Amino acid sequence: MKIAIVGATGEVGRMIITCLQELNLRPQELDLYASAKSRGQVLYYLDNPTVVQELSEQSLSKHYDYVFFSAGGGIANAYAPAALQSSEVIIDNSSAFRQDPAIPLIVPQINADLLRGYQGIVANPNCSTIQMVLPLAILDKEYRLKKVIVSTYQAVSGSGHGGIETLEKQRSGSKLKGIYPELIDLNVIPQIGVFLDSGYSAEEEKMHQETLKILGREDIGISATAVRVPVIYGHSLSVYAEFERELDLKHAAKMLSQADAINYHENSFITPLGLGTSNASHVCRLRQGVDGYSLTFWNVGHNVRIGAAANAVNIMYAHALQAGKIG
Ligand SMILES: NC(=O)c1ccc[n+]([C@@H]2O[C@H](COP(=O)([O-])OP(=O)(O)OC[C@H]3O[C@@H](n4cnc5c(N)ncnc54)[C@H](OP(=O)(O)O)[C@@H]3O)[C@@H](O)[C@H]2O)c1
Repeated sequence: MKIAIVGATGEVGRMIITCLQELNLRPQELDLYASAKSRGQVLYYLDNPTVVQELSEQSLSKHYDYVFFSAGGGIANAYAPAALQSSEVIIDNSSAFRQDPAIPLIVPQINADLLRGYQGIVANPNCSTIQMVLPLAILDKEYRLKKVIVSTYQAVSGSGHGGIETLEKQRSGSKLKGIYPELIDLNVIPQIGVFLDSGYSAEEEKMHQETLKILGREDIGISATAVRVPVIYGHSLSVYAEFERELDLKHAAKMLSQADAINYHENSFITPLGLGTSNASHVCRLRQGVDGYSLTFWNVGHNVRIGAAANAVNIMYAHALQAGKIG
């Protein structure tokens, strides 16, 4: 397989390399692209050095089976449509195409069927949405989801490498706000993305719209509050969900504990620091909500892994399996 990664030097790009290696995939070709700043930098794939190239119109005129884009919406809009003329599938990590009805928004454990026979751009969902929708999809099938109220506690790496740098500088004494609207060290900030006319932030609106699109439902009420916290890796979510059918908490717990990509913690909880290299969406503190039709849980996931790179690589893997590119 021939693979390219645009934004290979970033938080997500580097993790895509790691996730591909963890699958022990040996692509025939792996080309790495980033901005002029990173031209000539050397990154390693299974001990093989690969020189990072500066992205240009010409770079993507080559044929690739899969091109991962993880360089923001502007670069995706500018380069992805043209890259499709020579390549088969583009997996984009930005929000540029997620709400386009012609473009599938994929969490493979939920809707990999949309990849069958598909060529074109595939959108990788928002980080908090992926980790939340994995357990919600399981519960929705059994009890039919009606309403979700979620508050997030999102790590600074969710803003890319600049988020980590900002926090580290403030921890070393800087009083500059960096890329955030307020100091993030020793603080929490209830704004992720611009505020919209509705009063919700862009991140909150993504969680709302993307959850509906992935679940293929329009009739679920969703209200999100997205908050940045001074954690480096790992998003935590407090999720409250209501259903049409009466719940059996023990049965719900059993389904979650058996589900693919979910790590269910029965009598303990997990924190972002406990995630290590896990690619799972972790669910713990499952308990009844306000009545027998609702429940609430704590949900932790590695935002750069399950929230971005691991899901993107899973999309590639699911597509490659269906297309017979891997056995
Ligand atoms: N971080 C997360 O948890 C997360 C989760 C879900 C989705 N995403 C999305 O994934 C994308 C990447 O995020 P990130 O966290 O990896 O950001 P990042 O750490 O800031 O990395 C950005 C990457 O884009 C490259 N880039 C910037 N300008 C470019 C240009 N003009 N031409 C070519 N490459 C360029 C950078 O290259 P240089 O190093 O050369 O500047 C770098 O490789 C974003 O769309 C983000 O919204 C991120």
